[in-house]
Amino acid sequence: MAWVRACGVGEIDPGEAVRVEADPPVAVFNVDGEFLATADTCTHAESPLSDGYISGYEVECAWHFAKFCLRTGKALTLPATTGLATYATRVEDDTVFVDI
Ligand code: FES
Repeated sequence: MAWVRACGVGEIDPGEAVRVEADPPVAVFNVDGEFLATADTCTHAESPLSDGYISGYEVECAWHFAKFCLRTGKALTLPATTGLATYATRVEDDTVFVDI
C-alpha cells in the first residue's frame, strides 16, 4: 500500500471524477466535497468509470449503464455482477491522496 497523489482538491468539481494512472487505474470521485476512490475499470467490459455518470454515491458506466456504489464498490445493476475495489482517500494541503 502507498499513498499516491491523485489531484488537487480544486481539480475535481462535485459530481465529477478523475482517473489516476496507477496499475490498475483508479477513479477518484467528488461527492459533494467527499472524495471516494474505486477501481476505474468497469468489471463488465472495461469502460473507465471516471467517464461515467455520477449521481449521489453511485456511478453509472457510460458503456452499458451498470451502476456501482461508490462507498462499497458493490455492483448494483446488470450487466455488471462483480464489484469494484475501493481505496481509502485523504486530503492534505489541498491535495487528494489515494491509498493504492
Ligand atoms: S463496460 Fe461497464 S457496463 Fe459494460
